[in-house]
Amino acid sequence: MPESLEEKELLSAIGALETRRGVLGDAVVDTSIAALRQKLQQLQAERGKHTASRQRKQATVLFADVSGFTSICSGNDAETVTDAINSLWEALDSIIISRGGTVDKHIGDCVMAVWGTRGVREDDAVRAVDAALAMQETAPAISGGSGGLIPPFRIRIGIHTGPVFLSDVGTTGEYTAMGDTVNMASRLQNLAPLGGVRITRETWKHVKNRFLFSPMEAVKVKGIDREVTTCLVEARKPGGCLGLDTSVLGVQTGMAGRREELETLLNHFRAVSRSGGYRMDTIIGEAGIGKSRLLHEFRTRVETEPGRVVFFNARCTPGMEDTPCGVFRDILRISAGVLENDSSRAAMEKLLGFMGGYVPREEAARACFYAGFNTSPAGFAHTDRDAIPGREALAGFFRAVAERETVLLYLEDLHWADSVSLDLVGEIASSKGKGSLFALCLARPPLLLSRPNWGKGVPGTTLRLSPLSPSELEGLVRSILRGVGSLPDSLVGMIVDNSDGNPFYAEELLKMLAEEGVIDLQKGVVNTGSPALRGVPTTLAGVLQARLDSLSEDERRVLQAASVVGRVFWDLTVGEICGTGAGEAITGFLSRAEHRELIRRLERSAFAGSGEYLFKHAILRDVTYETVLLRVRKKYHRLAARWLMENAGDRTVEFQGAIAVHFELGEDWPEAVKWLSEAGDSAVVTSGYTQAVSLYTRALSVPGEFLGNSRRARLLLKRGAALEKLSRYPEAMDDLEQVLELADEQGDPGLSAEALSTMAWIATVTGHRDSAREYAFRARDFAEESGEMDLLARVTMRMADYEEDQTYGKVLSYFSRALDIYTSTGNENGAATALLNMGNVALAFRLPREAGGFYRRSMEKYEALGSRWGIANCLGNLGCVASALGDTGEAVENYGKSMEMSLSIGDREGVAICSLNLGDACLEQGSPEKALLHHGLAVRTADSAGIRPLLLAALRGRAQAHLMLGDRARAAVILRSITNDPAMAPGEGERIEGLLQGLDTLPEPTAIDEIVKREAEE
Ligand SMILES: Nc1ncnc2c1ncn2[C@@H]1O[C@H](COP(=O)(O)OP(=O)(O)O)[C@@H](O)[C@H]1O
Ligand SMILES: [Mg+2]
Repeated sequence: MPESLEEKELLSAIGALETRRGVLGDAVVDTSIAALRQKLQQLQAERGKHTASRQRKQATVLFADVSGFTSICSGNDAETVTDAINSLWEALDSIIISRGGTVDKHIGDCVMAVWGTRGVREDDAVRAVDAALAMQETAPAISGGSGGLIPPFRIRIGIHTGPVFLSDVGTTGEYTAMGDTVNMASRLQNLAPLGGVRITRETWKHVKNRFLFSPMEAVKVKGIDREVTTCLVEARKPGGCLGLDTSVLGVQTGMAGRREELETLLNHFRAVSRSGGYRMDTIIGEAGIGKSRLLHEFRTRVETEPGRVVFFNARCTPGMEDTPCGVFRDILRISAGVLENDSSRAAMEKLLGFMGGYVPREEAARACFYAGFNTSPAGFAHTDRDAIPGREALAGFFRAVAERETVLLYLEDLHWADSVSLDLVGEIASSKGKGSLFALCLARPPLLLSRPNWGKGVPGTTLRLSPLSPSELEGLVRSILRGVGSLPDSLVGMIVDNSDGNPFYAEELLKMLAEEGVIDLQKGVVNTGSPALRGVPTTLAGVLQARLDSLSEDERRVLQAASVVGRVFWDLTVGEICGTGAGEAITGFLSRAEHRELIRRLERSAFAGSGEYLFKHAILRDVTYETVLLRVRKKYHRLAARWLMENAGDRTVEFQGAIAVHFELGEDWPEAVKWLSEAGDSAVVTSGYTQAVSLYTRALSVPGEFLGNSRRARLLLKRGAALEKLSRYPEAMDDLEQVLELADEQGDPGLSAEALSTMAWIATVTGHRDSAREYAFRARDFAEESGEMDLLARVTMRMADYEEDQTYGKVLSYFSRALDIYTSTGNENGAATALLNMGNVALAFRLPREAGGFYRRSMEKYEALGSRWGIANCLGNLGCVASALGDTGEAVENYGKSMEMSLSIGDREGVAICSLNLGDACLEQGSPEKALLHHGLAVRTADSAGIRPLLLAALRGRAQAHLMLGDRARAAVILRSITNDPAMAPGEGERIEGLLQGLDTLPEPTAIDEIVKREAEE
């Protein structure tokens, strides 16, 4: 039987009420909805009687026990007790009903509720858990607000999802759910702690994206002779910030147009979810054109489809460009429920708890470090070398999730994202191998200006959102104004014409007209004679400006303070800036601004103890900010910086960028320089060189009198080093030359040595050996003069390359000198590096025994330091030593160990080298089949890490194995195509020549990419 008309009307009335929460307040809406739902359920039950007299259905069952409530009340007279119990159930039942549940029955101190018995909804379980949390959350308010009638009480709640039988009970027409699912929920309630919500794994599966949980535990359940896997629900997941509020003037709008775009996206997503694979779609469009709206509709559709999906989301804001990996920090923060004012330790526990479900904790820790959390995983040297495994670990986390479920990555406003994050999104989305992941990126057109190649080489499409057509826009306007009796066409026409297809403009114009009294939706009338209709602002900014002008002085001041904080802000920060503290006044102004649909309060706040708000649109924030007087702006920014400093606890490192921006805009130059330069240093640690350059540049541009020459020289040195990493050599040299001058003026030889050492390196890679040599020797002289021993050691090692007398003894002497220095200063890490280099020198001079001695000593030190990168390196090299000594067995063993370790820290270079060596060892042992496997892995890893010399060597290995297996043609194609490649490693050329000579006919060369595709097999 289909829904009756009356039911439909009730449903739409409920929907309409939902959208007016902002205006009416939750209390009013909840009560009204509860009443409507009760009526609805009656109707549905009537209808259901004819169809569902005994049915099996999938349902979620909730048992809540107000443990001993009746006995708490005892001592009062019977009437008071009855009143108390009745009002208690009224309050709790209405929570259930307002979330779409049915109260099945009350048994003593217990209520049983069911979701899904009348028309299954995809999110039944989510609603049930949400109701459970709401019951726990409102319990104190229920007794507090009862004027002493309801004594304080605590609830235990158990929830389970599974099949239930529905059957009529007696003649009342009521029916009840029965069966094992019901029993399980009831038993689970007994096992819940006071104030807690315990759910089974079955329920968890349906709600896991929406809440945070304690770890799973197996519990013994009375009457059920197996252990049941359960967990406790801890909180709602703070992902609420992404949701879009789609109501305008309190009227819920449907999406105008965009059907085709939506279907395209849904199809792409479904293909990924069905057949696996990685994909990235990008939506490009001007501000306000409807990108977020399209995403919102997509989410609504996808999240109600069955399937195992995990969502991640982040929204970029201006200023994020300079925070390397900032987008991923936000994704992890939101998914793991980390609060910005959690301690480092608490944050880490949440992150590892969440990520540890998919990857080893150590990997998770590396990933978090790379993403910018203030964490210090064990064995972490905090040098930029660790950035490589960190980056791999972060990408690896998403792949690990994608192997288990379909991952949806929602990334909004990517035109403000930092380059590290942008690269990483592309890298993740072009993963090969197992898993399914769909990234949906939204951005304004400038993204394509700064990244013309965005999306190239990544499976996926880029959609451009065009303006809505006049008729689509007209439909939207008319639907918002549907309550107006006789709507003048001229008014609609004016709005549509002015909007130019931008729905945001249309909406804001409507709100402006309502504020100016032209439109009155309450009364359903339009005043076409209003002077406000003359000279309507034609730009979006103009309309928003007009809306701000109509605010009271105080309201505007509060919003202005908020705009200084950013698109997302907190009432406490705003209170601090306004000098009033959070207080009622601020909250009052904010809630009025919310009613005007200027801002929105978010469900969860990133700062505990403080309400989080969002400007409804980025443009609105910008326009508000523009109205702040320059003088006031400075003061506000300084206050915002101080607030962040004081509230981020031991995690200020993570806010360096934001704090720096506030001090910069606040023109507090000494603080700005300090924070910019620290933010730059943090960026370097995670390989965010582009961001580092930008931050150092900003620090260098503060007014001269606040900088001082010595600070200036340090900043230039750091910027020069970062530029070198980006291969921007001429700029780097410019900076370093300036450092030399300043160092000279200040008589700081250490500084000169540092600069010259980097200059020597640049000269080498750009092919100027003579200058390189000169720089290197000058660097050493300065280092000696400075008396900074570690610096001297570093510079000395670099000089070995430029020694004219390239004999073993001479070359080795540079490293042994460095070793002596490091030993005398007690720098164990330095000593280990020197010894590792000495081993490499010995091996290059074909002295494997000596090399072995150095590597073993180096490894001992790395072991003491816990540096797995160092250990893996030594082990691999010890394999080469064994191989050179003819002990292939030991070589293989060492390569294997090194490989394992390289894999565990995500060092792709290490993995590629080890698998190449393993393959070569197999060739020597005469096992070409095994060699094929190892060389195959080497090809894949070297290719993905972009290390061409290793890739070529690995391909050579594959060719050699094919030859041994008799596939001469396949070997010939490979060899012919890689011979003469300029990136060939020394020694490989001869090997290839040798192999080619054994072949008589040679094919035409093939593109390396083609060959790689063929040879990268498992
Ligand atoms: N196709 C549409 N139909 C109805 N309303 C829309 C449509 N596109 C956008 N809107 C509304 O316009 C406003 C701005 O859209 P939004 O998606 O936030 O823009 P963008 O993300 O492109 O800057 C929102 O209130 C949104 O609900
Ligand atoms: Mg948007």
